[in-house]
Amino acid sequence: MNADQLSATSARAIGLDVDALTVRGGKPLDGRIEMKGAKNLVTKAMVAALLADTPSELRSVPEISDVRVVRGLLEIHGVAVETLGDTMRLDPANVERAHETSINAHAGSSRIPILFCGPLLHRLGEAFIPDLGGCHIGDRPIDYHLEVLRNFGAVVDKLPTGIRMTAPDGLHGAKVRLPYPSVGATEQVLLTATRAKGRTELSNAAVEPEILDLIAILQKMGAEIQVDTDRTIRIEGVDHLVGYSHTALFDRNEAASWACAALATGGDIFVGGARQQEMTTFLNVYRKVGGAFEIEDDGIRFWHPGGDLKPVVVETDVHPGFMTDWQQPLVVALAKAKGISIVHETVYEQRFGFTEALVDMGATIQIHTECLGSHACRFGQRNYQHSAVIAGPVSLRGADIVVPDLRGGFSHLVAALTAEGESRISNVGIIARGYERFIEKLQVLGADFDVDG
Ligand code: EPZ
Repeated sequence: MNADQLSATSARAIGLDVDALTVRGGKPLDGRIEMKGAKNLVTKAMVAALLADTPSELRSVPEISDVRVVRGLLEIHGVAVETLGDTMRLDPANVERAHETSINAHAGSSRIPILFCGPLLHRLGEAFIPDLGGCHIGDRPIDYHLEVLRNFGAVVDKLPTGIRMTAPDGLHGAKVRLPYPSVGATEQVLLTATRAKGRTELSNAAVEPEILDLIAILQKMGAEIQVDTDRTIRIEGVDHLVGYSHTALFDRNEAASWACAALATGGDIFVGGARQQEMTTFLNVYRKVGGAFEIEDDGIRFWHPGGDLKPVVVETDVHPGFMTDWQQPLVVALAKAKGISIVHETVYEQRFGFTEALVDMGATIQIHTECLGSHACRFGQRNYQHSAVIAGPVSLRGADIVVPDLRGGFSHLVAALTAEGESRISNVGIIARGYERFIEKLQVLGADFDVDG
């Protein structure tokens, strides 16, 4: 990609209005890139600002489209949002109702609107959420969220246009047990319980690092939250919260994706801002596959040390397990490992759709309905195609690919970068939902590609 193309507009560099890339594979990615705050924390931290009486300041905010969606939703609800570099200031002094049509127009394809419910019920006594989007990686229902909100005293009305909620008697603390440690439902409880009247006890909660960072933010705001060793979270409701000042946790999903890109392309990438502690499970697998890494104070260097990559058996799981968002780029590296690898997806029932394009590119991957890991998961008896068997090593060849979802799309990009010949990847705007300035990063790392259109 030449310099003129790159400087076209900043939106283009971010990848927001880019439709397609033509990628010529076979070049190892080599260089240094920087991580910003995690998509799956920053967007929730922005919503938390709604709970305060005073402004909040969030640092290390990435330029991704999910942040833009949440910003738009906050603004139509009266929150004044300003950014200076990667610092965002959010002033909730004038929170107000938004019209259903503007909420629908701003929600885009994000699932974050559901997390506005608790804070808006506290602030305004009502909330509306449109039909939710998000990546198409399974049914992605919101039943846990609605049940949680009902437990707090919300009245939920399903309308043809979306869901309207009211809280005629205010919200009160509740005893909740999640059927599964859902990240979003845990955040729903946190964002609702901190200002509800009385005590909340949440058992079977998710405790991902992004959730612990959200708890740290809420604590800065004045919330009383205790996390027990058995994944029970206890929250004592308070009447008022103040704004926070916080630097967001780095994006470990993005870091893992670039680490896999280094491995699959035979490259060497220093991921600035990545930290060991939140990635230990990933690092163990990376080492087993044959990848090398070096932990520095300011980031982690990932590289392919030469020789054959080794097959592994991996099961995705809730924290501290292997994240479901890490498996897609890893699968590309496993296609190049010598032997049979297995990936058992236990978080989402339908997250192997992306492998079809890899098979078209020459990968040998079979998807099975059986649980092929060491334990039976909740999808095993329900005929979901949720275990992948990957036989390698193969050489991938270029293909025309339409990106299906965020992580699958990134894995397609990595596959194209390793492939012989040219690939045309369209619908790449989806990647900008969660990978900050990925086009610039590809350029910095020496990828050979053109932005089409
Ligand atoms: C979050 O999604 C992340 N998204 C996902 O990241 C991530 O893969 C996921 O957590 C798991 O870590 C954001 O943070 C915005 P869940 P979330 O509720 O909260 C089922 C990415 O690529 N479930 O933990 O929506 C659900 O279907 C993405 O960055 C219900 O059945 O995930 C799934 O099988 C994609 N009913 C499981 O729970 C509900 O009401 C876990 O989902 C809610 C969830």
